[in-house]
Amino acid sequence: MSEITSFRALVVRKNEEKFTTSVEELSLGDLPKHGVTVQTDYSTINYKDGLVIKGQGGVVKSWPHIPGIDLAGTVLDSDSPDFSPGDRVVMTSLKASEAAWGGYSQYARLEADWLTKLPDEISSHQAMAIGTAGFSAMMALAALEEQGLSPDNEGEVLVTGAAGGVGNIAVALFASAGYRVAASTGRPEIGQFLLDLGASSIVSREELQTLPKGPLGSARWAGAVDNVGGVILANLLAGLHSRATCACVGLAASAKFEATVIPFLLRGVKMVGIDSGSYPVSKRFDLWKRLSRQLPLEKLEAISSAAGLSELPDLSDKILAGKISGRVVIDVSK
Ligand SMILES: NC(=O)c1ccc[n+]([C@@H]2O[C@H](COP(=O)([O-])OP(=O)(O)OC[C@H]3O[C@@H](n4cnc5c(N)ncnc54)[C@H](OP(=O)(O)O)[C@@H]3O)[C@@H](O)[C@H]2O)c1
Repeated sequence: MSEITSFRALVVRKNEEKFTTSVEELSLGDLPKHGVTVQTDYSTINYKDGLVIKGQGGVVKSWPHIPGIDLAGTVLDSDSPDFSPGDRVVMTSLKASEAAWGGYSQYARLEADWLTKLPDEISSHQAMAIGTAGFSAMMALAALEEQGLSPDNEGEVLVTGAAGGVGNIAVALFASAGYRVAASTGRPEIGQFLLDLGASSIVSREELQTLPKGPLGSARWAGAVDNVGGVILANLLAGLHSRATCACVGLAASAKFEATVIPFLLRGVKMVGIDSGSYPVSKRFDLWKRLSRQLPLEKLEAISSAAGLSELPDLSDKILAGKISGRVVIDVSK
């Protein structure tokens, strides 16, 4: 490690109330004193990263800061018996690591219990094309199946916000697991792309925003992965089949929703929350393994685009405005 004299990182600084972001040259001595040093290959951008880069959201309290809640790379040295130099590792969406210096850096120092070994079948690049978004889609599939979802159930599985990162991967994942997937989007121009990912039908965002005439709509969905919340969540609950479940992932439209309890009382529908930030680290390897088997990894190329560290401020504006399609993999060497 001694030959590493300097490396690049995206640093957010706060001067009085103003935030500035730039790519800086750092040395290993600048990094925090956690026990595992990782050479980062790739990172990605999540909504939360966009907030931190723009100095919003209140997740980070101390500045300067290197954002990036997700990273994939190789262990350089470790004070933990769980990791050895050369191990390929991934960190995604961990509440415990949110305020720590993260993945927008060619090197990172992290706690051992924030890291998961990456299955051999998944490259660092693929891991970041999946990222927190894809991990959450995998959690949603596991949670819905625990609640009784099976490809034999009547109806399609609805994925809302399908053009987004969670949405794209959920469409591909559920389709390859044998489900018929209805992809809901406000961007009709990407309908064919979503069909190519494996969707069996496209539902317009407007259709889901239209309230049913009573507290129940016609039973239509075998299950749902909801990335948007708000009126769409309320309406899809009213359209679930008897005993079907909605996995509540996101709030791209709204954190609030107004609904009646009628779908719960008359159809026994269920909601499960997806909390990728607090998912136990000890169980994460199993879900990555499942992703390696069930997600058609070759589709990640179509889902993801590439960018470098200096593009992150612009990408933050876009992700906060809901204007990114699919996943963006950040090459930290660029
Ligand atoms: N629970 C967890 O652990 C967890 C993990 C990851 C992400 N999340 C949350 O899940 C959500 C999706 O994440 P993501 O990474 O997929 O985000 P994203 O890439 O920004 O995608 C969000 C999608 O939601 C749709 N959308 C945006 N604004 C909308 C609006 N006003 N009304 C209706 N639909 C709207 C858009 O899809 P269309 O253009 O197709 O309509 C957009 O592509 C976010 O809220 C994120 O914070 C939660």
